This record gives sequence, structure tokens and C-alpha cells, in this order.
Amino acid sequence: MNKTLMIGVLAAVLAGVAYYVTQTGESGPGAPAQGAAMVEVTLPEELSQRAQVGEKAFNAVCADCHGQNAAGKMGNGPPLIHKIYEPSHHGDMAFHMAVQNGVRAHHWRFGNMPAQEGLTRADVESIIAYVREVQRVNGIN
Ligand code: HEC
Repeated sequence: MNKTLMIGVLAAVLAGVAYYVTQTGESGPGAPAQGAAMVEVTLPEELSQRAQVGEKAFNAVCADCHGQNAAGKMGNGPPLIHKIYEPSHHGDMAFHMAVQNGVRAHHWRFGNMPAQEGLTRADVESIIAYVREVQRVNGIN
């Protein structure tokens, strides 16, 4: 093997190790599994009609990343039932913008959120109603 090739192979191996270390840094005994919920969410006894519609849309479009009940999903996306997303910090406009334009990663390390197609403004308003009702019973006002 010539020297250049050798260095190339070595670099590839090192990159592989670095990738492995950074990607598995959270694992080990006791670490939450990929796909697990990130926060405990209490559900309202009853959702308003609007929020029930929103829940369906949320489950169809957002839950892949934000988890069931918006409790977050390890390795995929953050919980929206979280103080960061209280109405005074992320108002309803932030939800519309997120869906329309996507979100650049800034609070978490999941990467960017892509824009979500195929939802009307009314769909997003129902989703917001759902998230806010669940937030409220979890003390996020
Ligand atoms: C492909 C994964 C993915 C999907 C699908 C997704 N999101 Fe996100 N979303 C993210 C990630 C990741 C972040 C966090 C970005 C950060 O701050 O680091 C985020 C952030 C957000 C934020 C915060 C925006 C801000 O201003 O900080 C809102 C609101 C949001 N998502 C709503 C939604 C809604 C509503 C849906 C469904 C219509 C949805 N997301 C679908 C991955 C996703």
C-alpha cells in the first residue's frame, strides 16, 4: 500500500470512529432509547373539538419528530410540551412560521425542521389549539 493510500484509509477510519463516538455518546446503560418520549405529559381529560381535529393532524404530520402527545422523540425532535414553547416565548405565529418555512436548529441538536407541506392555515390553527390545551394541563401557560 502506498503512503497516500495509507493516509486516506487512516483518515476514513478515524472519521468513522469519530462518527461512532459522537452518535452513540448518549447511549449506554440507563440512557433513553432512540424514539423514546423525552418528557412526561399529562393529557387533558377532554380536548375541545378544535383540539381533537388538531390532534389528528398533529399525529399525522408532526408526531414523527415531536413524538406522541408532543412529548418529544429521542433522536428525532423536541417536545413541544416544554417551557421553551410556552405562548409568551413561542407564540402562535412561531407555529405558523415553523410549518411554512421550517426551523433552523437553535434550541436543540436534532438538526433543522423542514417546512411541512399540505397543511392549511386552519389545520395549523387546530394543531396549535391542541398543543396549547396539552401545554396548559402541564403547567405551561
Ligand atoms: C422532520 C422532523 C420534524 C417534523 C415532521 C416537524 N418538526 Fe417541528 N421541529 C423539529 C425540530 C428538530 C425542531 C427544533 C429546532 C431547534 O430549535 O433546534 C422543531 C421545532 C418546532 C417549533 C419551534 C419553532 C421555533 O421557532 O423555535 C415548532 C413550533 C414546531 N417545530 C412545530 C411543528 C409542527 C406544528 C409540526 C407538524 C405540522 C412539526 N413541527 C413537524 C422537527 C420537526
